[in-house]
Amino acid sequence: MSRKNGPVVAIDGTAGTGKSTVGKAAAQKLGYGFLSTGGLYRALAYSVFKKQIDPSDAEAVLAEAKSLCFVFQRQPDATLKMFVNGEYLGEQLHLDEVAQTASKVSTHAQARAVLTEKMRQVAKDGGIILEGRDIGTVVFPDAEVKIYLTAAPEVRAQRRLKQLLAQGLPADYTHILTSIKERDERDSTRAASPLRAAADACQIDTSDLNREQVIEAVVKEINKYVA
Ligand code: DC
Repeated sequence: MSRKNGPVVAIDGTAGTGKSTVGKAAAQKLGYGFLSTGGLYRALAYSVFKKQIDPSDAEAVLAEAKSLCFVFQRQPDATLKMFVNGEYLGEQLHLDEVAQTASKVSTHAQARAVLTEKMRQVAKDGGIILEGRDIGTVVFPDAEVKIYLTAAPEVRAQRRLKQLLAQGLPADYTHILTSIKERDERDSTRAASPLRAAADACQIDTSDLNREQVIEAVVKEINKYVA
């Protein structure tokens, strides 16, 4: 399929494999947009959390998903800045409670369908890298390029620990590792769009690679399509 602005590139994988950092850097190199689709689930979670809705209540979560109006603004650094009902939520979306709630609300198939449709709308003309869990399998099964990143949970926990400490935030390795494993388990065993690699995805294990090496591998994969 040929799209107006170039390919749709799907980057999927577990949390902490560097999907966001790498996807954004690759988008900058190639002049594409970049969207971290977990942001939509986090926005839904934030709203659910704030209104004290039970995240296991599928109908209430669906109603909340439908009530969210997403607007995306492409930034000079390739990212799509997301406004939810007119508000930019920024760092609030990265609180641990929000991440945990996101993993819970994302188990509901109908709420997922609402957010999936928003992702398809924003990316249908291509020239964009989407990072998530089910981009290559469900959101864009016809994506021109599909990449699946993996890394050992211990490596991902170390990376997260370093990030938090660098930001001067309190961090505990064991707690981070447990939280990563819990999310992996929930994301990959849920009935609706579980985390898994598309059969036609290029799999890259980032455990022993540095950031630059992963970016290089991803750009190389995209260039195979573009060339
Ligand atoms: O990538 P992230 O940590 O920002 O994602 C937050 C949660 O959203 C994560 O637990 C899984 C879920 N998610 C999803 O189910 N499908 C996506 N395409 C992206 C994220």
